[in-house]
Amino acid sequence: MPQFSSSSPSIKTPRPTLQNPINPKSPITIVLSHCCLHQLFTSHLSFKNTAKKIITAIIMLKPQLHQSQSSSPTLFPLSKPFSQGNGRIVGFRVRSTPVLQKIRRSAKVGLVSRKISATMSPITTEKLLSVKAVVTLKESPGGLLSKIGIKGGVDLLLELVSAELDPKTGQEKGTIKGYTHKKSQNAEEATYECEFEVGEGFGEVGAIFVENEHRKEIYLKDIVLDGFAGDPLSITCNSWVESKFDNPQKRVFFTNKCYLPKETPSGLRRLREEELAILRGNGQGERKSYERIYDYDVYNDLGNPDSDVDKKRPVLGGKELPYPRRCRTGRPRCDTDPQSESRSGSTYVPRDEQFSPIKNLTFSAKTVYSVVHALAQSLDTVIVDSDLGFPYFSAIDDLFNEGVNLPPLQKQGFLKDLLPRLVKTVADASQDVLRFETPETMIRDRFFWFSDEEFARQTLAGINPYAIQLVTEWPLRSELDPKIYGASESAITTEIIEREIKGFMTVTEAIKQKKLFMLDYHDLFLPYVNKVRQLKGTTLYGSRTLFFLTPDETLKPLAIELTRPPTDDGKPQWKQVFTPSCSSTGRWLWRLAKAHVLAHDSGYHQLVSHWLRTHCATEPYIIATNRQLSEMHPIYKLLHPHFRYTMQINALSRGFLINGDGIIESSFSPGKYSMELSAVAYDKQWQFDLQGLPNDLISRGLAVEDPTAPHGLRLAIEDYPFANDGLLLWDAIKEWVTDYVSHYYPDPSRIASDKELQSWWTEIRTVGHGDKKDSPGWPDLKTPSDLVHIITTMVWVTSGHHAAVNFGQYTYAGYFPNRPTIARTKMPVEDPTEEELKIFWDKPETTLLTCFPSQIQATKVMAILDVLSNHSPDEEYLGQDPEPALKEDPAIKTAFERFSGRLKELEGIIDKRNTDQRFKNRSGAGIVPYELLKPFSEPGVTGKGVPYSISI
Ligand SMILES: [Fe+2]
Repeated sequence: MPQFSSSSPSIKTPRPTLQNPINPKSPITIVLSHCCLHQLFTSHLSFKNTAKKIITAIIMLKPQLHQSQSSSPTLFPLSKPFSQGNGRIVGFRVRSTPVLQKIRRSAKVGLVSRKISATMSPITTEKLLSVKAVVTLKESPGGLLSKIGIKGGVDLLLELVSAELDPKTGQEKGTIKGYTHKKSQNAEEATYECEFEVGEGFGEVGAIFVENEHRKEIYLKDIVLDGFAGDPLSITCNSWVESKFDNPQKRVFFTNKCYLPKETPSGLRRLREEELAILRGNGQGERKSYERIYDYDVYNDLGNPDSDVDKKRPVLGGKELPYPRRCRTGRPRCDTDPQSESRSGSTYVPRDEQFSPIKNLTFSAKTVYSVVHALAQSLDTVIVDSDLGFPYFSAIDDLFNEGVNLPPLQKQGFLKDLLPRLVKTVADASQDVLRFETPETMIRDRFFWFSDEEFARQTLAGINPYAIQLVTEWPLRSELDPKIYGASESAITTEIIEREIKGFMTVTEAIKQKKLFMLDYHDLFLPYVNKVRQLKGTTLYGSRTLFFLTPDETLKPLAIELTRPPTDDGKPQWKQVFTPSCSSTGRWLWRLAKAHVLAHDSGYHQLVSHWLRTHCATEPYIIATNRQLSEMHPIYKLLHPHFRYTMQINALSRGFLINGDGIIESSFSPGKYSMELSAVAYDKQWQFDLQGLPNDLISRGLAVEDPTAPHGLRLAIEDYPFANDGLLLWDAIKEWVTDYVSHYYPDPSRIASDKELQSWWTEIRTVGHGDKKDSPGWPDLKTPSDLVHIITTMVWVTSGHHAAVNFGQYTYAGYFPNRPTIARTKMPVEDPTEEELKIFWDKPETTLLTCFPSQIQATKVMAILDVLSNHSPDEEYLGQDPEPALKEDPAIKTAFERFSGRLKELEGIIDKRNTDQRFKNRSGAGIVPYELLKPFSEPGVTGKGVPYSISI
C-alpha cells in the first residue's frame, strides 16, 4: 500500500539528491532543513569544494542544527532547484503588491528564519513570491505547548504541494519545504510561522504536508498561507498530528476546496487515493491510540468472560443477531471465549474522533466516566443492600431535598468540581452529598407523574415519541407462535374498549376514524419474558396499552394488557387487562400496570429509540464516510459536523453503559438480555428509509401523505408536538441539503459517475449495515434526489432525532416514578402468594415501591441521566458556526445562511406554539412546554437545543 513517508518522498518527480548529477547549466537552489546540516557536513566531506563552502557558511550562521529524517540530504549543487520538481524555476500568479515580488537575478545564499534557503542561481527572470505560512496549534489538556514553549517551540516541516501536474512532464511537481518557527503563544494556542519563496510556475497550492518534528503529538488547528494573489489561503486541519518518531508518514492536509473525485486537480489525485487507503488500514493488528484507521467489527466486546463466565455475552452482528458494525479495535480475543474480544481500560477510536482540546466537550465525556466509575462506586459503598427499595415516597423526595451522603470529602473533591449540579457540600462541610436538582416536571407540578393524562401526553411530547402507533386492525393478535407463546388473541376485547370510551363510538368507528392508538411491547418482549424472569431482581411481561384520541386532540388511556407466556414448569399463558378504575383495588392495579408499561417504554426508549437508532446506527455511516469519501469530497464536508465525537461517546458507552453488568443491564428490566433485545429490534423493525421523520410517522400510522397539507403530510393527531416541530426541522434540513446537493450534483450523471460516493453507499449497505443488506428500505443512489433523501435522513438522525430522545431525559425520568427503568416484581394478581396479596391489600404503596427501581438503581440512573441531558458550555448547535469549507463557495455560504435563518425562525414558532392553549399536549397548567426540538440552548440541563451531532 502506498504510504506517505519521510524516508520515501511522496512525489514521483525525481527529487534532488546527493546522487543526482550536477548540471551546471541549471539554476541552483538549495533549501535546507536546519537540522540536516550537521550530518551532511560529516557524511559528505568528499563532495565538491563549492558545497563545502556553503555548508561552512551555513553552519556558522546556525550552529545548533540537528538531523532531520524528513528528506534525503539536499545540500549540494542540484540538477534541479529544490523548490520545484520540474527542472525549472516556476512561479505563481503574482499579486499586485510589488513588495512581495522578487526576481531571481543572481546566485545567493540566504537564511530565512529557521528555514535556511541557500540559493545559487545564474541570471534568470524567474518571479518569486514570498509566501508566509501561519500555523495555529491548540493547547492540549496537558499544556504541552506551553511546556515546549519554554524551550523554544515545536518544529513543523511544511511542504507545499502544487494542485497541478507539470504540463511538460505530466509528473507531479516537487514540493516546497520550510520549517516553522514560533511566533506567539497564549493559554489556548500558539502560532508558528514559516516563509516560502514560490516560483510563478508552481501553480495553485492544493495541499500541504506536515511533519511533526517534536516527540509528542500536537493538535493542528489550521494553516493560513498569505502571499498569493487574492485572499489568504486557509487550510483547516483540526487534527492531531503524531510525532514523526511515532509515525514517519507525513500528514497531508488538503485545502478547503471541494472536488468530486473525477474533478480532482491532477496534482492531487494520487494523494487523494493514498490518503483514503491510509484511513482504511489493512484490517490487521491491534489499533494504537494515535492511529486514524477506520474499520469495522461486530459487537463482541460487551461481555467479559475472562473475568467471570456469567459475563459472557452473545456477539451482536451476524446472522443470528444482526446488528450494525462498530469500529474495529483489533484487541486480542478472550482466553475463555475466542468469539469475544478482550476489554481494556481504554477503547480505540480513530484519533480525530476523540474529543478535541478545542471543545470543552471533553467535559461531558469525562463527566460521564466520572459518574460511572467514581460516583457509582461511592454509592455502592453507602447503599450496601443493592435490593433495597424506597420505603416511602417521601424517601424519593429526599433525593432532591437531603441527598445521599457520600464517603468523606477528600475523596470526592474531583467529583464536586466535575458535577457541581449533583455533588454538594452540606453546611457543616464534613461530608459531601449527592443531591439531585428537582426536575422541571416536578417543579411545575408535584404530582405530574400520577395522572393518566400526563402518561398519555408523554407518548406525544415526552422523550420517547417514537413508539405510539395507530391501531389499524381489530382484534389485536400476536404474530408469535401460539404453540410456544400461548393464544394469539389479545385479551383487550371490543367490549372493554367500548366500555372505556363510554359509548362515544364503536371500536369499528374508532378504528375507521383513526381514534385508537397503542404502545405495543407485546411481540418484541414476550420471547424474553421467561428468560428475564430467571434473573434475580427483575421481571417482564409483553404489554399493549391502548389510547383513545379525544375531540380535544389529547389521548386517554383505555387499557393495559400484560402477558406472560406459558412457563417451562407447566404454567399456562397468563394475561390480564387492566383499566382505569373508580375502585381502590382497580386503581392500584392500574397504577402497577402503568409502572410495568413505563418500564417497557423506558427500556425501548433507551435501547431502541436512543441507542440503536441514533448512536449505534450512525457509527457505520461515520466509518464509511472516512473510508470512502475524501476530505475533499463535498459530501464529506457536509456530513462531517454531524459525525463529531459520536464514535468516542459510543466507545465510552461500550465501556460502561451497555456492557455486561453495566448501568443498562443492572438497571433496566431486561437485564443481561438488554442489548440482545436491541438486536432483535434491529432485525425486526429497523429500515433505513424509516429513519427519516416523514416515513417514520407514516409507518406508525401517525401521518398520511397529502400534498395539500403542510409538509405534504396529514397528521393523525394534529397536536403531536414532536411531529409538529420535527417536521419543521426536517424540512429545514432537507432544504439545506437540497441546496447543497444540487450545487454539486446538478444532474444524475454526476451521481452515477462519482466513484467515491457509490463506494460509500455500497459499503454502508453491504458492510456497516451488511446484516440487513437484503432487507427492504435501502434507497437507490442514482439521482440527486436519492442523495438528498439519504443525507437528510442521516442529518435528521444525528440532530433532531437524537435531541428529541436525549436532552429531556432528566426532565422526564429524573423523578423515576414517572419513568421507572425497571419493574422488579410481577403483578400481585398473577399467581399470587398469600404474602404478596396481604401486602397489596394492607399497603398497596409498598407493592408499588417494591416494583420500582431499588435505591442503588434509581440513584445511579438519575445521576447518569442528569449528565446525559446536559449541554456543555460550547455545545455546537445545528445551523451555527458552519464548517470553514462551507464558507468558501458563495452559493453554499448563502444557502447555509438561509438554513441558519430558518432555524432561528423555528425558535419563535415553537415558543408561540407552547403558549397557545389550543395545543393541550404542550401547553396548559403545570405542563412542561415542548422545547426538545428548539434548535438552541443555554448550557446545562435545559430540555432544549439540537446539536449537530450525537456527542453525549
Ligand atoms: Fe445520546
